[in-house]
Amino acid sequence: MKYIDIAKEKIKKLKNKDDIIILAIESSCDETAVAITKGKRILSNKISSQIEIHARFGGVVPEIASRNHILAIDNILEQALEESKMTLKDIDAVAVTYGAGLLGALLVGVAYTKSLALSLGVPLIGINHIKGHIFANFISHQELKYPFICLVASGGHTALLKVEGYQKIESLGSTCDDAAGEAFDKVARVLGLGYPGGPEVEKAAQKGKDKIILPRPFKGEEHLNFSYSGLKTAVVNYVHNTKKGGGDVNIYDVAKSFQNQAVGMLIDNAIKAAKRHNIKSIAVAGGVGANTALREGLEKAAKEHGIKLFLPPKSLCTDNAAMIAIAAYFAIKENISPADLDLDADASLDLIS
Ligand code: KG4
Ligand code: ZN
Repeated sequence: MKYIDIAKEKIKKLKNKDDIIILAIESSCDETAVAITKGKRILSNKISSQIEIHARFGGVVPEIASRNHILAIDNILEQALEESKMTLKDIDAVAVTYGAGLLGALLVGVAYTKSLALSLGVPLIGINHIKGHIFANFISHQELKYPFICLVASGGHTALLKVEGYQKIESLGSTCDDAAGEAFDKVARVLGLGYPGGPEVEKAAQKGKDKIILPRPFKGEEHLNFSYSGLKTAVVNYVHNTKKGGGDVNIYDVAKSFQNQAVGMLIDNAIKAAKRHNIKSIAVAGGVGANTALREGLEKAAKEHGIKLFLPPKSLCTDNAAMIAIAAYFAIKENISPADLDLDADASLDLIS
């Protein structure tokens, strides 16, 4: 019997899909993550971060990331099994991020998960990284229902999506240039703060005042797109010109002023999208969703407009494997066919595919 037929048969024989045990692997960037879930419940969620390794380069070095995934993955898998008190024999299905991300990094997770699927004889579910971020909202919010607006703000994407089902996701607007997280990272670098930039800018902003005039792209415009390149360049120019003129750059004020504009654009567009499409719920996805100014600003704006806000806990906003497991749970529940062993990594997988 061919592998794919065994996998499909296994899914058909599942007595209760609500209790399915999924082992998921995420290795799209600089985090090697393994999670085990039972239904929508997390049994273990382990992450090995490479932040310290890449910090001295000021950003992720793809080749180094791939090599470190290979070094970390066995150990993280063992830790996840131990914490969940499971053995590989208990696993009903395996899931993996197959895109988008760094090709070499993705390949480690994809190859590893495929060999697990084959050796255990269980279904293999390929997950789009952004779908993982979106569906992470269902882990902590059992009451979240379709349709909802999802604000996606990560290191590689910034978009507003109308989510009506696992396979029914429509893009309402996206960034025309840089992603929000990318802008945070760049501003952190210009200010001499550490990597990754988002949390460092947030920390610096707590000590600053919003007194530097920076542009807010697309303010007052009808569409729901974003732009971060002009804002980022304005910060770079401000720092450069102030230093050239012999002045002191107050990094705290720059961080605060930048953060206000960056999250302001996300908040304004998310509310505009919900109102325009007459949708009463907004969910948040991606690493920038861990930003406290964004979370508090959204809470306030949602309340003012009578919109329900769903925020995943900060640890589920940044990359993790529990989000990949939960997306796989929804894929299985919606009878989406499992992947065959020719599943390939796709570095530039479309946001909503
Ligand atoms: O979703 P994520 O963990 O990985 C990608 O899929 O890209 O997002 C990473 C991005 C980075 O750009 C990081 O600087 C940003 O999210 N980020 C933050 C915060 N925590 C992470 N940005 C602003 N404030 C934060 N607290
Ligand atoms: Zn991510």
